[in-house]
Amino acid sequence: MRGKKAETAKTKKAAPQAKAETAETKKAASKAETVPAKEKVSKAEADYRRRFDRHLDELRWLYMELYDNGSMFAELCDRLHEFYEERARDLKKKDGEREKRPDWYKGNDMLGMMLYIDNFAGNLQGVHEKLSYIKRCNVNYIHLMPFLDTPKGRSDGGYAVADFRKVQPALGTMEDLESLTAACRKEGISVCMDFVMNHTSEDHEWAKRARAGEGEYMSRYFFFDNEAIPAEYEKTVPQVFPTTAPGNFTYLADAGHFVMTSFYPYQWDLNYKNPRVFNEMMYNFLFLANKGIDIMRIDAVPYIWKELHTQCRNLKQVHTIVRMMRMISEIVCPGVLLLGEVVMEPEKVVPYFGTLEKPECHMLYNVTTMATTWHTVATRDVRLLKRQLDIVNGLPKEYLFLNYLRCHDDIGWGLDYDTLHQWGFEERSHKQYLNDYFQGLEGDSGSRGELYNADPVSGDARFCGTTASMCGVEKAGFEQDEEAMKQAVRLDVMLHAYMFMQSGIPVLYSGDEIGEVNDYSYKEDPDKAADSRYLHRGKLDWTLTEQISDEESVTGQIFGQLDRLEKIRSAGKVFAAQADARTVETGDTSVLCISRSCEGEEILGVFNFSEYNKEVSLCGVTGEYKDMLTGDDVSPAKIPLPAYGFCYMAGKQK
Ligand code: GLC
Repeated sequence: MRGKKAETAKTKKAAPQAKAETAETKKAASKAETVPAKEKVSKAEADYRRRFDRHLDELRWLYMELYDNGSMFAELCDRLHEFYEERARDLKKKDGEREKRPDWYKGNDMLGMMLYIDNFAGNLQGVHEKLSYIKRCNVNYIHLMPFLDTPKGRSDGGYAVADFRKVQPALGTMEDLESLTAACRKEGISVCMDFVMNHTSEDHEWAKRARAGEGEYMSRYFFFDNEAIPAEYEKTVPQVFPTTAPGNFTYLADAGHFVMTSFYPYQWDLNYKNPRVFNEMMYNFLFLANKGIDIMRIDAVPYIWKELHTQCRNLKQVHTIVRMMRMISEIVCPGVLLLGEVVMEPEKVVPYFGTLEKPECHMLYNVTTMATTWHTVATRDVRLLKRQLDIVNGLPKEYLFLNYLRCHDDIGWGLDYDTLHQWGFEERSHKQYLNDYFQGLEGDSGSRGELYNADPVSGDARFCGTTASMCGVEKAGFEQDEEAMKQAVRLDVMLHAYMFMQSGIPVLYSGDEIGEVNDYSYKEDPDKAADSRYLHRGKLDWTLTEQISDEESVTGQIFGQLDRLEKIRSAGKVFAAQADARTVETGDTSVLCISRSCEGEEILGVFNFSEYNKEVSLCGVTGEYKDMLTGDDVSPAKIPLPAYGFCYMAGKQK
């Protein structure tokens, strides 16, 4: 199914040369292309021209298809060159190295961590000072959660950007950002940031001018002076936040207009039908890339193109825009990667990789696998997870996923309900079960957490909580139940061990490495109280980090075991994205087995998702294996697994 979709994305993009060149497009490009015959060009300039020439035809084709505006295209080309000229020499050097090693980010040594700057270390300088801790966590890729200027109380955790070129004053300045990225570069740490391109804050200058009635700026958003068209949209566009922000439009009484707001009312959707919006946002993108950012997370990307009478999600123009972004970054800053945030069902996610010939995003979140993992924790039934992993493992290896257990957002229960239905699960009641289980309302559940956007009408709700709390660490700690704590820690570590076995880049959520639990203090902050996602956005407790080497402490146990697994992962080629990965039948619906093999080496990861001790026999697996953690021999016909335990086994391929 996935392969088929990717195919469609390919055929969608006609060959660039098929479009007849109009006088206008020719003029547009020639302005940027003119190279005096005998001019001596520097190496950097030659690099630029090579990259530009490589993409020009296709870029022009797509731009003209979308905008049919030659002078805006010419402006874009000119500005690309300007941004390239402004790009610092060491960034260009890095670009060159990465161009020569295009798989630089696909190695088994990659380990990410996402963190809020203020929660982690107060401000950008604080993060700078804590780089040694980041390295101690074996992390070489940090995702700095949104840090651009945003209004207090109407920030959506920073996803409502008021100024794309200014850091939130409390976090520092653009200079601080540049010095942090430079320090990270020296330490071999890549830096990721969010590029929130679907909307701006209502405090952004464009929004203010639109609100004041300036037509030029109104045309950068979706403004309507009466309800008729918004009402038409509402007939087909689903709601993102049905309870906290119902509807897709907000009425601005002072301006006498409706404005499209797919997320919160203070986040105004940008109108990418206007080429000025596309161009300016690309300039913002390049401005930020030039600050030393390595990975751009394209926030809420499926939503960026709107058409009446559609769902306004994943439209083909979205792919045109992402493809153009990919080419633009390959021209100006080829060392920068695009990470798409596509929180959708698998068949909608995969097309964002584009095709091998015309790639779009370098990396995407493995969101369905993440949600299915938690379903597996609650049901102790690995069948759906095995099926999901089989689908992902069947995709081309060039497609790189980011694997994670928790992130800053809630968990939406986007599971394969068609399959679940065949096994007797019904969507609504199953979601109810999952939410009850993770709130700790189901008899034997040790989890703690809260619902997010619970809709009493549809019965739908998403879920918030940290990994440790969802694994039982919070409850066991509160009840001082040592046995329960052991089990909770085992589950927490097993889930990480399983995540590290997946193909792609594992990303830790800051705090998970020390088993941080939910933080209920958000309820006392009126700016946060209505958004339960702040439950898992607490401050990093630095006093806990002092216990990372103390094996008696919960923190030390989690940190120490993850540390071992991370080192095993970064030392073994079998963990690299290009290794073969498959699942192996275990004959037990609570036990999952993943096999990874590469260049004659094979490892097996066996994971017990149940609270019972098990002994499993792997179907069709013979040969000799060693437990990678203890060094003991282990037979694939008799693998002992404690409750929520796991085993990494290394063997030789026949
Ligand atoms: C993304 C972010 C989420 C935010 C939304 C709107 O989904 O992950 O936190 O609320 O975009 O920008």
